This record gives sequence, C-alpha cells and structure tokens, in this order.
Amino acid sequence: MRDFVDITEIDRNIIEHLFEMSDMIINRHMHIRKNNILDGKNIILAFFEPSTRTRLSFEIAVKRLGADALTVVGEEAVSLSKGESFGDTLRMFDILGDLLVLRHKYDGAAKYAAEMVKIPVINAGDGKNQHPTQAIIDLYTVYKRLGQIDGLNYAVVGDLRYARTAHSFLLALTHFEPKNVYLVSPPQLKPSESLIAELRERGLQFYLSENLEEVIDMVDVIYVTRIQKERFPDPEEYEKVKGSYRLTYEMIKNRKDIIVLHPLPRVDELDTRIDNTQAAAYFDQVRNAVPVRMSVVAWSAGVEL
Ligand code: CP
Repeated sequence: MRDFVDITEIDRNIIEHLFEMSDMIINRHMHIRKNNILDGKNIILAFFEPSTRTRLSFEIAVKRLGADALTVVGEEAVSLSKGESFGDTLRMFDILGDLLVLRHKYDGAAKYAAEMVKIPVINAGDGKNQHPTQAIIDLYTVYKRLGQIDGLNYAVVGDLRYARTAHSFLLALTHFEPKNVYLVSPPQLKPSESLIAELRERGLQFYLSENLEEVIDMVDVIYVTRIQKERFPDPEEYEKVKGSYRLTYEMIKNRKDIIVLHPLPRVDELDTRIDNTQAAAYFDQVRNAVPVRMSVVAWSAGVEL
C-alpha cells in the first residue's frame, strides 16, 4: 500500500503504469460499471475545501472499484467543529478506513496525514501546494490527444503563485523531456522562488513570460489556470490582478494542432467560445478523471488490475 501525496515522488515508471491501467480500465469499460476489486474496503473521502470534479470523480472511482465511499464534506460535518484536533480526526480515519483521500486548505496537510496514519493517503489538493492526481489526469489527457508528452512545447498560464494544479503539472513535467516550457503570468502571480529553484534543480528547461500572445505560436499545449482568489492573503491584491489575462478564441483559431488544458473551475480567463473547438481538451480532462483516479486508488491500495 502506498501514499500518493507528492508528484515528485511518483516517478515516470509509475506514471506510465497508471496510464496503462487507465487505458485498460477504459478498454474494458470498467469505469462505467461496478467491479469487485476493492470489495469490502472503506475509503474515506475527506474534503475540507470545496470541490466539484475531484470529489465526484473520486467517489465514482471508489464505487466502480467496488469499495464503499465514506464522504465527509466540510469541517462542520465532523467533530473538528466541536474542537477535536486534526490529529485525533486522522486517528479515527485510520481506525475506521482502509484508505484516505484528503483535500485540505493547508499546504502540507496530506504529508502530515500520511505521517500520522497507517492507511494509504491520497492528496486531493493541499492548499497552494500540490494536486498530484490532477497532474496525472492532465498528462494522461496530453498523451491521449497528442500521443506523447516528451518533445512538446508547453505554456502554463495564469496564477503560477497560488494554483496547486499548475505546480503539480510543472513538477510532473520534470519526470519527462518536454522541449520548452513557458511560464506565463502577470508579475504579481509569478511562481515562487522556491518553485523556480525546484524546477531548475529537477532539470526543467523553462522561460518566464508576461505575455501569452508572445508564446502562443510556439506551443503545442496551453495549460490555463484561474486566479485563486481564495488564496490571496490581501483581497486588495486580488482586485489589482483580477481579469488581467484571458485566452480568447481569436488567439487559437488558426492553430489546428494546439490543445488547451484547464483543470477547472474557470472564471473569466478562458473564452467559452473555445469549448466547441478541437483545441478544447478540458472536458476530456474531466472525462479522464474517473479511470485515472480508479488507477491511482487501486495502485495506492496495492492492487493490480
Ligand atoms: N480541478 C479541480 O480540482 O476541481 P475541483 O476543485 O472542482 O475538484
């Protein structure tokens, strides 16, 4: 049984194994009917931050694998609201569950949980830090659309300071050999010095830019993120940067070979007129979420499909 907390610890062999498992799940239609692979297991889905895609797709994935999904939504639903400590809450999950999927507002919460409990922990997003299963979905979507991850040019656009999805995607790319990676953001939303240092240390070839139009003709994949309003320490700082970038239909309409990723939710940074173009891969990401998360849960539970 294995934790799935930090994308830097999930190496290329594991990622490619998860792709193979996801392909098999889709080819055998396992993602659209109930299987008994994890029959009798209790999987706790503790979501202490809002979620649409991650929670629902994990819940479907767990049920398709034949396990029981025990879902907790919000701190008010458990005895944290009565003053129980997070540590004691984790101990209860450890006793009652066989695997924990955790979303939390604090950076490092999943790592802390993995250190506290004996059952496997899957990080479903911790603060502004990481969202590693989203990164596997993102890479799988690129692989399914373009047949490769190596050798492509990528632009990761938007809130590179606070978007955990962008952090995980960039760190996941360090397991591969992308050609060039452009990090495009307004100055206030540039990646932190620590992320820049980590990407450099891990050998990623990347360039910083503030202008999406400057890079758009050079890339095969554009990964757009929304501004993470909820992570700004100062609401006035959010107001200053709000609406400062947008990928429009006009920017990509002549690019037949480009794909656009977005982990969603979106606000105003992604033109809805792109939705019905061949470039839009963001609904594919949502479709791929169930088979990929089935693979991750099975892998973490130590079960081969
Ligand atoms: N992509 C993503 O994490 O979406 P949710 O916050 O809706 O789960």
